[in-house]
Amino acid sequence: MSSIVLQAELLTKSYRSGDSMLTVLDQVSFKVSQGNTLAIIGPSGSGKTTLLGLCAGLDVPSSGTISLMGFKLNAMSEDDRAYIRNQYVGFVFQNFQLLPTLTAHENVMVPLELRGERNVAQKAKDLLSRVGLEGRLHHYPSQLSGGEQQRVAMARAFITDPKILFADEPTGNLDEENSDHITDLLFSLNKEQGTTLVLVTHNLELAQKTERILRMKGGKLVDEQIISPV
Ligand SMILES: Nc1ncnc2c1ncn2[C@@H]1O[C@H](COP(=O)(O)OP(=O)(O)O)[C@@H](O)[C@H]1O
Ligand SMILES: [Mg+2]
Repeated sequence: MSSIVLQAELLTKSYRSGDSMLTVLDQVSFKVSQGNTLAIIGPSGSGKTTLLGLCAGLDVPSSGTISLMGFKLNAMSEDDRAYIRNQYVGFVFQNFQLLPTLTAHENVMVPLELRGERNVAQKAKDLLSRVGLEGRLHHYPSQLSGGEQQRVAMARAFITDPKILFADEPTGNLDEENSDHITDLLFSLNKEQGTTLVLVTHNLELAQKTERILRMKGGKLVDEQIISPV
């Protein structure tokens, strides 16, 4: 039997809009088992980024529960959620979100340094080699192409050996060649490390490489498609 690493139950997120409330995520429930790969698709504004942010503990729901590695994120303080993220979660964003004043090498070291680990330089170097950037250690983000920045972001996301990796349109700002490279890396690192992979994408080719596809519309989960038996 596979163990559940992520469980969302009746997740709802609403924002106040003038005198009324705007519900952008409406009673979303789903489970993800360890090692699963899953894609969330749907039109722009359907709540995909909101859902990913709640699952990763970046934000809290208005109601409903979210359990990550058995921790009830909805009932935890901001600091405790930050700790859980650092211990268990990797995150890759569409716009890379590297720290501009740090080199590629330094960016990748940050999550381990936050854990108080020492001697992290070699591990960061190895991972940058793994993504083909051994020649770019001392480059700043502004000196790297989009594809290279996303590869640095991938190395940063994987350096903590996360149990679960969330990726929000990881290929959204990349051309086809770089998009293919990032996709290959995502799935091979998922296999090598047994990382659970939850990604949001507009790229159907990418979505079809996962085991399950969840479709969202207007803040609701409207469909689930199983790509291959799990
Ligand atoms: N902080 C916020 N305050 C108010 N509305 C928000 C906020 N964040 C997102 N929204 C709204 O929530 C809806 C879903 O947004 P989002 O999750 O980013 O969608 P997607 O990623 O599917 O494009 C959008 O209509 C957006 O305007
Ligand atoms: Mg989005």
